[in-house]
Amino acid sequence: MSGTVVVGMQWGDEGKGKITDFLSRDADIVTRYQGGDNAGHTIKENGQTYHLRTIPSGILRANKTCVLGNGIVLNPKSLVAEITRLHEAGVSIDNLVISDRAHIILPYHIALDQAQENYRHDNKIGTTNRGIGPAYTDKAERSGIRMVDLLDKDVFAKKLTINLKFKNELLTKIYHQDALDYDTIFSEFFEYGQQLKKYVVDSSELLNHAIEDGKNLLFEGAQGIMLDLDHGTYPYVTSSNPAGGVSVGAGIGPQAINHVVGVAKAYTSRVGDGPFPTEQTNEIGDYLRDAGHEYGVVTKRPRRIGWLDAVVLNHSRKVAGVTELCLNSIDVLTGLETIKICVAYELHGQRIDYYPASLKDIADCTPIYEEFPGWQEDITHAQNLIDLPENAQRYVQRISELVKLPLATFSVGPDREQTIVLKDVWKQSVLNGHI
Ligand code: GDP
Ligand code: IMO
Ligand code: MG
Repeated sequence: MSGTVVVGMQWGDEGKGKITDFLSRDADIVTRYQGGDNAGHTIKENGQTYHLRTIPSGILRANKTCVLGNGIVLNPKSLVAEITRLHEAGVSIDNLVISDRAHIILPYHIALDQAQENYRHDNKIGTTNRGIGPAYTDKAERSGIRMVDLLDKDVFAKKLTINLKFKNELLTKIYHQDALDYDTIFSEFFEYGQQLKKYVVDSSELLNHAIEDGKNLLFEGAQGIMLDLDHGTYPYVTSSNPAGGVSVGAGIGPQAINHVVGVAKAYTSRVGDGPFPTEQTNEIGDYLRDAGHEYGVVTKRPRRIGWLDAVVLNHSRKVAGVTELCLNSIDVLTGLETIKICVAYELHGQRIDYYPASLKDIADCTPIYEEFPGWQEDITHAQNLIDLPENAQRYVQRISELVKLPLATFSVGPDREQTIVLKDVWKQSVLNGHI
């Protein structure tokens, strides 16, 4: 039995979906343990592109059980639409399983997300407007509605009545928005629940049986560790824990996890507001945004772009216990004369190598860079590290050293075939050219 977590080490969109799809070949079960349809995970296979929002990235492979764990927040409307989209693309959803304890996102969460963002004005978080924060707020505040509640007509009616009364007070009196209609929400969402009913089980039971049976379990994080509610750039974060949320969010013990695969791009991107010390709001940023097609899957916003930040990656390694690195999008850097990696910050005249908690301190941090000569050759067909130009090899090698992690895979393009394996995380065997 093996338990492997895939988690993003930056601010999201590192290519977790692609790596999860890749590693799911040797997994029996793939589980999402946090987040909701704020995630947008891209997989390219045989010339076809799939964008997954809530469904785990193992779904493209037949016979993999795909679990939506108790730790996620689930929008039944968008999940039904995602299932329909995948069906139409010829993907089987028969192996999907939804936790009966997963909390659901309702229209008042989305209305409140938008209203709160407007209210924050200049301090807005730049959320995806999918109701994620308000849904997790209700969970913590103990007024949330879970999948099991949605399936019970009386329970759903009672909880929705109580919740909507209060949410409509907030929407109309505080935020000066229109009230939402009970009957419309009830009939629409009860019907979604009926459509999803066949997938709903106690997923913690299922996962624990699989552990007893010696199965290989893969867990797919959403967002990235710098967006983690505890360990990210608070308050410019999401409302869940990609870093360590797997045990709580899947209902398994921590001893079931033996590998944490950290995914990073060879540079950095971020959508939404908040600190980003290595951001390049110049022609370098524009170049990488174009080369990497850096526009949000969910909101289509242009992503903010910057140099790779080893302080961020080391912070993520520590708080999530990352054991190996998957480095994506090295090809996007092709064509640059010089490439930089931030190796430390200067803060008030001192060199620091940790990520400060205070936003004021982060704003005062100046990145200290190491510079590397770039490469001009097309690397998108590389099959091994030694196929890369020497300058690219040196860059990749230095990242592994700075981050103190062995490289499990590196990627030179978005396709499944463009991910090169250096270390088999399931068998723990080192393959060709491992560094
Ligand atoms: P996720 O949210 O972490 O799953 O990542 P996204 O799918 O939101 O964003 C990653 C983007 O980078 C997608 O458009 C991928 O197709 C693309 N991508 C992933 N790996 C590579 C790579 O090695 N090279 C290039 N050029 N693009 C990549
Ligand atoms: P994947 O899984 C990138 C960002 C939003 C915003 C902050 C809070 O594709 O990597 P939220 O709607 O969660 O309350 O927004 O988090 N954000 C993401 N950024 N990739 C994501 O998911 C994200 N999910 C949320 O832009 O800054
Ligand atoms: Mg994404």
